[in-house]
Amino acid sequence: MDNKKNKLLIYGATGYTGRIIASRAKELNIDFEIAGRDPDKTRKLAEELAVNYHIFNVDTEYAWKIALHGKQALINAAGPFKFTAQQVMKACLKAGVHYLDISAELDTYRLAQSLNREAREAGIQLISGAGLFVSYDALVVHLSKLVTEPEYLKVGFRHYGGFSRGSVLSSKNIADLGILVRRNHEIIGHPDPQPKLFSFGKDEVECMPTPLGGIILSYKSTGIPNIEEFFSLNLPANELPDLTAENLPDGPTAEERAAGRNGISAELTAKDGKVVKAYVDAPSGYDLTPLSVVAVAHRILNGDFKVGYQSPGSAYGEDIINDIPDTYLIDNNA
Ligand SMILES: NC(=O)c1ccc[n+]([C@@H]2O[C@H](COP(=O)([O-])OP(=O)(O)OC[C@H]3O[C@@H](n4cnc5c(N)ncnc54)[C@H](OP(=O)(O)O)[C@@H]3O)[C@@H](O)[C@H]2O)c1
Repeated sequence: MDNKKNKLLIYGATGYTGRIIASRAKELNIDFEIAGRDPDKTRKLAEELAVNYHIFNVDTEYAWKIALHGKQALINAAGPFKFTAQQVMKACLKAGVHYLDISAELDTYRLAQSLNREAREAGIQLISGAGLFVSYDALVVHLSKLVTEPEYLKVGFRHYGGFSRGSVLSSKNIADLGILVRRNHEIIGHPDPQPKLFSFGKDEVECMPTPLGGIILSYKSTGIPNIEEFFSLNLPANELPDLTAENLPDGPTAEERAAGRNGISAELTAKDGKVVKAYVDAPSGYDLTPLSVVAVAHRILNGDFKVGYQSPGSAYGEDIINDIPDTYLIDNNA
């Protein structure tokens, strides 16, 4: 048996986003296998991609041992992550395999944070939120280096491309937390949430206060003590009362995804009052996430990782953005 650990495993590869991740991995000629719980969908996708596959439920420990054999890194694309992250992180800790997911659920980030010691002992890098947050975090790290004492960060996120079924279901796990912000290093409920106008190059967009994950991930990357986040749309869970997988569509078509762009706009105020601003112009969300998480996996497969709980920014700083095609960081300090 080949004992080299040099491959990638993508769990949840048959989902809407998982499929795009798998096709990006194929495009980059990465040596990978796929896994999922649905036999027909998993077998069919493996045939299309001409890769090996594993069919098992996320709770099946012995199956994880087999599927993770020979793997250096794993991408967990099976969300809502509330139901999968713990089992998959534990399996990776046991097998000594680097863990990445594309979660936008704050509780999954907290879970990864709580497993820091175990990840260090296992010699693995544990990043929850290696999708949209890769370029988001690169932007924040960039701004934090332009001032001496970063004090107050505000980030607006403009999303394009609608929502996939998995995102709609997972958004409930964000909406249920209320409007959280970071104040003086602590996460608290926002006392007075108000919309704010953000500039994305030519466009100005009003965004609603929404905790997106930077309050945990970008705090890990930079230690900025005050962080507020804003989103251009209402979370789908706040708009759709009847959330079941059956009555939701898959997600945008490739043409719909290509018809617009995502933007992330950030303003950082330093202790001395200096304000610096920049934004990221990127492909729409369901193209950006696969490009981002596969860029991180590619770094790991080339031996570039930091053990323990990490954020994209703490592991890779701002230059990871150069690994994401068609994605630009633009200073806005005229
Ligand atoms: N922040 C970001 O960067 C970002 C971007 C895109 C997506 N996401 C997140 O990624 C997740 C997936 O989104 P999606 O669009 O791919 O959704 P999707 O089309 O519904 O696919 C979900 C995939 O996960 C699998 N899955 C779900 N629950 C599972 C469980 N308990 N055990 C095993 N497998 C399970 C599904 O398997 P079955 O087919 O068997 O149900 C399917 O393969 C969502 O949580 C979404 O919010 C995050």
